[in-house]
Parts: sequence; structure tokens; C-alpha cells
Amino acid sequence: MDRRKFLKGTTAIAVAAAGSTIIKHSISLGSNTNTEGEKKMKILVITGSPRKNGNSNTLADNFTKGAEEAGHTVVRFDSAFKNVHPCVACNKCGMNGTCVFQDDFNFVRENIVDADVVVLATPIYYFGISAQIKTVIDRFYAINGQISRPKKAVLLMTYADTSSKVAQPIINHYETMIDYLNWSDAGKIIAPGVWSVGDINHTQYPQKAYDLGKNI
Ligand SMILES: Cc1cc2nc3c(=O)[nH]c(=O)nc-3n(C[C@H](O)[C@H](O)[C@H](O)COP(=O)(O)O)c2cc1C
Repeated sequence: MDRRKFLKGTTAIAVAAAGSTIIKHSISLGSNTNTEGEKKMKILVITGSPRKNGNSNTLADNFTKGAEEAGHTVVRFDSAFKNVHPCVACNKCGMNGTCVFQDDFNFVRENIVDADVVVLATPIYYFGISAQIKTVIDRFYAINGQISRPKKAVLLMTYADTSSKVAQPIINHYETMIDYLNWSDAGKIIAPGVWSVGDINHTQYPQKAYDLGKNI
């Protein structure tokens, strides 16, 4: 699809270039309910740490435990252990089509479109999100037209510094991104002061992540 036409015609969001106007439309999502009428959601958790038992993965584990106990379905993509090529801006996808790279991102493609909730779990790496998770997020470009519709989003983030100033730019990035995608923030667990694997276990944050998952 011609990119200009796509950007004009999309029912979701159009962004022509950095700093341009953002147009949004609401599209209602279907949802499953159980016999009590409670909403049972599909949740996609995307993690960004190469430390399997690290701090952000511990938050993801606890969130998942709570969400599954509440009856939701959780699927997970551990970016650091997958083969995901960075976007090369060829625009063959037209922001709504087939990507030239057929790799592990296909799992995200298959699971994000109908997900009610997308959880991003990442450490801070050099004042940003990890490269592993950013690479996955950049590939959203190819499915922009399919995912720019109402979903809930969650940010789980860990970092060594104890200043909230360090986390703020990433929170801004997250807020700006989900606003663009027409997603709404369902909660953030931001854990400062954790450096080594296991540090998070001496904090309140795993419990907070569990509670967030249970009450999502
Ligand atoms: C490459 C690298 C860069 C990092 N950069 C920062 C940073 O800019 N600010 C910070 O507070 N911590 C930084 N850290 C520390 C991690 O954010 C912290 O250890 C975090 O809890 C790791 O999460 P994980 O256990 O889930 O991997 C960095 C760690 C690494 C390995």
C-alpha cells in the first residue's frame, strides 16, 4: 500500500513523520467472558532482558502468575532469546503488511493483534529500554495498521539508579507510544535500585506486579 494513502486512510492512527499530527479513531474490541460475565483477556508479555532470572523477568513472572490466577490467558515473548532482525525501513510492509524478514517476530505478529493487553518488561540500558525489546517494538511498524486500536498496556521496568529522574524519559516514551497506538496505560511497576539478579526479591515490586496482574 502506498504509505501516504495508508496514513490518510487508516482507521486507526496516522503519523506522517516525527512531530506531525496524530489522528485517532476508537474501535471497540471483542472480549471473552466467563459465565459470571467477567472479562477474560488475552495478554501478551514481551520481555527485554537477557537475564532469565533477572529483575524485570521476575516482575513479568509475578504479573503472569496474578493474571493467570485471575483466569486470563498469557502468552510470552522473551525478546533476548529470539531471532528478531531490526527494521531496515524498506517500507515493503506499507506499515500494514508482510515484512521482508520472516523470523521470530512472527510470534508477536500472530499474538498481538487480538491481545487485549500488551505488557512490556524491560531493564534500563543506558537511559533507555533494552535494545532487545526496542528491536521488537520497531517491528510493530509492519503491523501498525492492525494494532493501532484500543488495548491495555503495562510497563514493568527495573534499573540500578535510585533516582526517578532516570526512569522518567522512558516513561514518557512509553506514554507517547501507547497514546499513538491508541492503547491505554493499565499500570506501571517501576523498580529503582535493583542491580544484580535477585535484588528485586528484596523489594515490594514482585508483589505489586502480581497484584497488577491479578487485577488487570
Ligand atoms: C548494558 C547495561 C546498561 C545499563 N544501564 C543502566 C542505566 O542507564 N541506568 C540504570 O539505572 N541502570 C542501568 N543498568 C542496570 C540495569 O538496569 C539493572 O541491573 C536492571 O535491574 C537489570 O534488569 P534485569 O535483571 O531484568 O536484566 C544497566 C545494565 C546493563 C547491563
